[in-house]
Amino acid sequence: MIEARMDELIKIINQASYEYYVLDNPTITDQEYDDYYMELLALEKKYPELKREDSPTNRVGGNALDKFEKVTHEKPMLSFDDIFNEEEIISFDERIRKVIPNPVYTLEPKMDGLSGSLIYEKGVLVRAATRGDGVTGENITLNVKTIKTVPLRLTKDIDIEVRGEIYMSKDSFEKANLEREALGEAPFANPRNAAAGSVRQLDSKITAKRKLDFMAYFIPNPEDYGLKTQSESLLFLKELGFLTNDKLNTTASSISEMIKKINNIHEKRKSLPFAIDGVVIKVDNLKDEEKLGYTTRVPRWGIAYKFPAEEVLTTLKEIKFTVGRTGKITPNALFSPVHVDGSLVSKATLHNEDYCLEKDIRVGDIIVVRKAGDVIPEVARVKFERRTKELPPFKMITNCPMCNTLLVKKDANYFCPNDHCPARHIENLIHYVSRDAMNIEGFGDNIVEDFYNMGYIKTPADFYHLDKYKDELMNLEGFGERSIIKLLASIENSKKNSLERLLFALGIRHVGAKTAKILARNYKNIDNLMQATYEELSNINDIGDIIAKSVTNYFHDKNNLNLINKLKDNKINMEYINNNYHESEEFAGKTFVLTGTLLNTTREEATTIIENLGGKVSGSVSSKTSAVIVGENPGSKYTKALSLNIPIWNEEAFLQKVNNE
Ligand code: IVH
Repeated sequence: MIEARMDELIKIINQASYEYYVLDNPTITDQEYDDYYMELLALEKKYPELKREDSPTNRVGGNALDKFEKVTHEKPMLSFDDIFNEEEIISFDERIRKVIPNPVYTLEPKMDGLSGSLIYEKGVLVRAATRGDGVTGENITLNVKTIKTVPLRLTKDIDIEVRGEIYMSKDSFEKANLEREALGEAPFANPRNAAAGSVRQLDSKITAKRKLDFMAYFIPNPEDYGLKTQSESLLFLKELGFLTNDKLNTTASSISEMIKKINNIHEKRKSLPFAIDGVVIKVDNLKDEEKLGYTTRVPRWGIAYKFPAEEVLTTLKEIKFTVGRTGKITPNALFSPVHVDGSLVSKATLHNEDYCLEKDIRVGDIIVVRKAGDVIPEVARVKFERRTKELPPFKMITNCPMCNTLLVKKDANYFCPNDHCPARHIENLIHYVSRDAMNIEGFGDNIVEDFYNMGYIKTPADFYHLDKYKDELMNLEGFGERSIIKLLASIENSKKNSLERLLFALGIRHVGAKTAKILARNYKNIDNLMQATYEELSNINDIGDIIAKSVTNYFHDKNNLNLINKLKDNKINMEYINNNYHESEEFAGKTFVLTGTLLNTTREEATTIIENLGGKVSGSVSSKTSAVIVGENPGSKYTKALSLNIPIWNEEAFLQKVNNE
């Protein structure tokens, strides 16, 4: 009875969502939809054992993952070779005609997202994966279930793999970016990056908020369903409940028809609700495809024609020089904002003096802007015919724009030699808040720079006093109360970070995120680490000479000690917090020694595992050693263990004991 009602509700809701999202033609009101949804949710809560895989309630996202599981594609997920102009289209057609006398082609807009593979069993979505390297991808099932245009159940109870593009519509992209800017986060560069970033979220609840879509375009095993052409595959996909590009997909049987239709799609590009970057050309007949086959890399039966990079005119307003972490000076073009290939751009790097002189670029010029390599904006050239009046030629600066120190030239670049240049402080502050460091959300690079220039933050300790300026901050352009509250909450939250984040955030030379973790795990708190000698440090696995020296130097510098004391005053956690710790009988309170090469784990990982189970790892064997874990080609520690009668575990025995926990 209850099960039947749940089945019915799932059917109604999935159908309603198909009509709304795929067909863009709703048949029930929002209120009705909500009522059915709430009824289903209540039943699933009461009878969790009856909850179905294809339930629409799965679309809100599930528990966050630690990492994505790797999956191997049954058939590799290939892509086509790219071509860029009409001649190349013509020679592709000629190549095909050598094998297939009268080919028919399908022409499909080349969606600008990332490809995904969906596997259905008996009509129910059971797995979704990214393309990855084509052979292995990542399991993103939970995330893909949140995509409204992905059917959770097909109209037929068949087993099938479907491939297509996961993408973000232009509308959702603009909205997502407005939101990000309001929160002080860096905007996505384009819809493709937005889609890729969203679908690779470990927390599917975040993906659910990002409003992605899925356009189906390929069935790897079409013969299993009696399909004879790609056009039939596309119709079949539509029949199964997928969104297909049915208004734009078309066919052509001559080169002139093909070029005309490709131009047609190109003309529509701007007015489409999603980003496309070309036209995919496929031989329609699947038997013909088989005849044409594959090269070692790509199918011979298709090709991807990419539209020429869009070139947009704008006015160069300013050349701004910036100073990087190493002191390197870069000229940047600041121009009136323009839309280029789907994203709004207003600046581009001009690399160095030679580049500017070569292009003879001058403030006030009309310049041609385009995307290099699809993502990064560049100034293609100057429109000299539009330079109607005399403009002052480009001149490299001689002094640092931040501290006025005389610049020094090394090869093609100029550097500020001042170690205390404020630009470097800004870079350090940006690093301090960054994701792998203290992970303080809401600080884009510009905000850190503005706050620095306004005098709110000079050192990392000042982040923790920003609440003093709450009223002033709220008056800044682009900041509302909501974003300030979020920012302050994120700062407060960062105080609880485990020690390794702080160690990385401090910007100690040669201490990356991984080294920071090793140091944190070994020393447990910052006071222990501050007292560590060079010898002690360099004895730790994976800590070499250079790091050991750099760490001891860092903690001998008065300014650094001062900073750490200030951070302590602000109650920043300086202890190592291990969330994976759970003691086990086999390991807790015991000391282990590792020797030889382990095949399935690195030493680093094995040490973490042992410590997480309550054990200790020591570098030398003594009568106090509980067991020696021996890999391939063990050294003298092994013989010593034998002579002292210490238990020996091989890798398998070790992993077995670990897995028994
Ligand atoms: S067919 C064997 N059809 O563009 C190739 N791909 O090189 C199977 N793409 O990586 C893919 N729209 O991510 C195909 N209508 C479409 C497409 C499309 C976009 C992407 C896909 C692939 C690349 C083609």
